[in-house]
Amino acid sequence: MTGGKGSPAGRRPADRLSDAGTAPPRPSSDPLDRYAVIGNPVAHSKSPLIQEAFARATGQRLRYERLLAPLDGFAATVQKFVEANGLGLNVTIPFKLQAFALARERSTRAQSARACNTLAWRGDHWFGDNTDGAGVVRDLTRNLGETIAGRKVLVLGAGGAARGIAGALLAERPLRLTIANRTHAKALELAAQLERDGPISAAPLGSLSGQQFDIVINATSLGLGTRVPAGLWPHRLFAAQSLAYDLIYADRATPFLQWARDEGAARTTDGLGMLIEQAAESFYLWRGVRPDTGPVFRMLRPDGGT
Ligand code: ATR
Repeated sequence: MTGGKGSPAGRRPADRLSDAGTAPPRPSSDPLDRYAVIGNPVAHSKSPLIQEAFARATGQRLRYERLLAPLDGFAATVQKFVEANGLGLNVTIPFKLQAFALARERSTRAQSARACNTLAWRGDHWFGDNTDGAGVVRDLTRNLGETIAGRKVLVLGAGGAARGIAGALLAERPLRLTIANRTHAKALELAAQLERDGPISAAPLGSLSGQQFDIVINATSLGLGTRVPAGLWPHRLFAAQSLAYDLIYADRATPFLQWARDEGAARTTDGLGMLIEQAAESFYLWRGVRPDTGPVFRMLRPDGGT
């Protein structure tokens, strides 16, 4: 996964480790451009399925694989991939900060996130991008038909995932973007970093009591296996017609979405749509072609529900 956080459910041992470490430079019999998702673990990643579907649908000929990098071997694995004619990488846990450090050139949105989920080889250096924010905005506005402009948006969490989406949400001109985090100092830091870009503020979790929001996004790393601890977030955060959106995706309702339903959220959605949209944005960066995401969403979730 590169954008929404992947469900650990169904993870298997690495079923296919990349051969990038030993592959010789691309032989003439293998003319396909090479791309990969790099992470640890990576065997559960849906990125190959998604990117290969995009390639088929747009008629782009490429090879996309999984690249398992040792926890202390990100840069070396990327270097071998380049030497084997690798052109682009989706970057997932735990390497997004290292990808940012490796990129010699970075997009504005990567700088805002201080993390890269996408790398594109520019002939002699890596260009680093972050497509997570664009992915969540596209999923909210195009796929779910939500309006962000003029609405009250709450992001729970202030870590890497929150940083990855906050700038893009703010660019949509919400009435206010509120960041609330268990460790308030991190919410303050994130809000301060973006305050020149729009109406963003940090709020201590306790101070949210009595406030209501139109869109509430879970950007914490709360695990899938647990319930939301009682009292973690105040009651009655959801306005009428509100949407609860979890950056995590899973085949069943996530703990946050279960909690949101109990709290009266009108709609609940997990992060599968964001995962697909951020992948499409990466594909566009690499290939200059924007794939249609609808068929891939239906392929991965034929019943359409969360
Ligand atoms: P990621 O890149 O997934 O965002 P991260 O940068 O470690 O990972 O950030 C994790 C986020 O989830 C943080 O906002 C963290 O809150 P703290 O800053 O207070 O640590 C939040 N988080 C993780 N576990 C949590 C829990 N049990 N309750 C509330 N917030 C939690």
